Parts: sequence; structure tokens; C-alpha cells
Amino acid sequence: MTDFSSASPTITSMIRMDHTHVLCAFHRYRLSSPWWRKRAIVGAVCTALEIHAQLEEEIFYPAVARIAPDNDAVKKSQPEHDEMREIIAQLRAMGPENAAYDGLFMQLMRVTIHHVADEETVLIPMAERSLKNELSSLGAAMTRRRMQLLGERPVDVAVHTAGTFPIATAVLAGLAIFSVSGLFGGPSARRRARSRNYA
Ligand SMILES: [Fe+2]
Ligand SMILES: [Fe+2]
Repeated sequence: MTDFSSASPTITSMIRMDHTHVLCAFHRYRLSSPWWRKRAIVGAVCTALEIHAQLEEEIFYPAVARIAPDNDAVKKSQPEHDEMREIIAQLRAMGPENAAYDGLFMQLMRVTIHHVADEETVLIPMAERSLKNELSSLGAAMTRRRMQLLGERPVDVAVHTAGTFPIATAVLAGLAIFSVSGLFGGPSARRRARSRNYA
């Protein structure tokens, strides 16, 4: 039986894509922007970071911890996510009219850039060296979980992230899986693949 998860983008390419999207969103923020634009950008970044962090904690970090449980970058990943969540909670509790809003968002940007740099220079290369055969199946698992998380917060996602992260990543991954299932099987094979991928 064909394993369609092998057609999925790898988990590391998905993580890189998520990082690119969220860093681009950070760079759209201007101190001089109107309040409604600031709030939209902050809302998109916060939702994207929360979903991304949860996906990494559930799927990527356990896989990396298996191969390098004592690595410093692995150990400090979770506390750094918690720090981001704390800043996100503070941002959500205040409005853009608050004098501290810009500074707090810049703090979130600093923490995120530092964290992303560690992941992209240590964790991702390590995973690509040692988890070669699992990267696609882990990518498929991440897509399935992302779909579930997006489904649990449809209003939040529609308001803050329409047309951008993380929907773009999910759609691209889903398209890759289904286009290959279409190449290798007829309608019944596609039905089997669908039930396997989106159970
Ligand atoms: Fe992370
Ligand atoms: Fe990340």
C-alpha cells in the first residue's frame, strides 16, 4: 500500500515556512500605523505563534528530544515558548492605544527572532541529519494537527490570518499530499488516503 505521508513536505520545511511568514508579519508593523492595522498585525502574529508553538511541542520537539535529550537548545525551547505566550497574553489584555503596546510587541519580536535563530541553526539541521527518514511523515502529522487546530478556532483564524500564515502552509501541504494521491490511485484510493490523512 502506498504511504501517502511520504509525499508530504518535510516537517523542517514547514517549520521554516511558518518562521518566514511570521517574521514577514512582524516587519509589516510600523509605529506610525493606525491602531486598527497594528491590532490586525498583532492578532495575526499571536495566533500564528500560538499554533506554531503547539505544533512544535506536540510533534517536532519530542522527535528532536529522542535524538538529543541533553541538547541546550532542546531544553530551552519550551521555556522560550512560555515566555512568548506570556507576552501574547499581555498584548491581548491591552489595546494599541496603550503606551506600552508598541514596546511589548517589539519585545515579542526580539524573543521570537532569537528563538527562531536557535531552531534554524541548531534544531532543524540536527533533525535533518538524524531524522532523515521521518521528516515527511512528521510533516504529514503536523499538517493533520494544524487542520484540527485551525478548525478549533475558525473565527480567530478568519479574522486574523485570512490569506496568510498558517493557512498557506496547511493548504500547500494538503495540495501536495492529494495531488500525489491522485497520481497513484483512483477515487477509492483517494477516499482511503483522505480517511487516513484527515482522521
Ligand atoms: Fe519554537
Ligand atoms: Fe519554530
